[in-house]
Amino acid sequence: MELSDFTDEDFDAFYPIKMRKLSATHWTPVAIARKAIEFLADRPGVKVLDLGSGTGKFCLVAASHSQAKVTGVEQRENLVRLSRKMAENYKIENVDFVHGDIKTIDFKEYEAFYFFNSFEENINLTDKLDAENTFDVLLYQEYCQFLHDQFDLVPKGTKIVTYCGQDIEIPETYTLVKSQNKGKLKFWQKRG
Ligand SMILES: C[S@@+](CC[C@H](N)C(=O)[O-])C[C@H]1O[C@@H](n2cnc3c(N)ncnc32)[C@H](O)[C@@H]1O
Repeated sequence: MELSDFTDEDFDAFYPIKMRKLSATHWTPVAIARKAIEFLADRPGVKVLDLGSGTGKFCLVAASHSQAKVTGVEQRENLVRLSRKMAENYKIENVDFVHGDIKTIDFKEYEAFYFFNSFEENINLTDKLDAENTFDVLLYQEYCQFLHDQFDLVPKGTKIVTYCGQDIEIPETYTLVKSQNKGKLKFWQKRG
């Protein structure tokens, strides 16, 4: 059985208890990850980046459900270590994890993007990921603007999936191709 066939309960059971408890708030449900990667991975080997990969749940499900090359970038080192351990345990080879800030990424190296409202943690302290997590509206705005600018620079035809959030990171040059899960899951493509 592939990881992408697991229920959320079974998938989350692999995580330490603290991470398991945060799952409903912070990690993508398996069914959402499957739908997202089915849209993003429109050919084998397509390079998909998860912007803020957390415990790796989106990346691991997406990689096991497709032939995409899935990368996650994550600022918290403990979460990167956990993600890598999961990939190793479950022998998922088309996935890798980068420890760092989204701002250090060269967007030109990727062809499609997944974004689960990663900057919300700067303005919403519900279910904090760690004690260092503080309220900072200016930082939130700065990151949203950064992502908007990067999405504006990538080539026409680029696909993005967003889960939750206000879509303020998505430039006008993108078409909303479809929307599911009561509008929480959105599929975008840059106009050609
Ligand atoms: C809502 S979680 C989503 C996790 C994962 N994408 C998933 O769907 O399962 C957002 C993650 O983004 C990370 N994050 C937030 N801001 C970031 C930044 N500037 N650079 C890298 N990671 C960031 C957080 O640490 C958190 O783990």
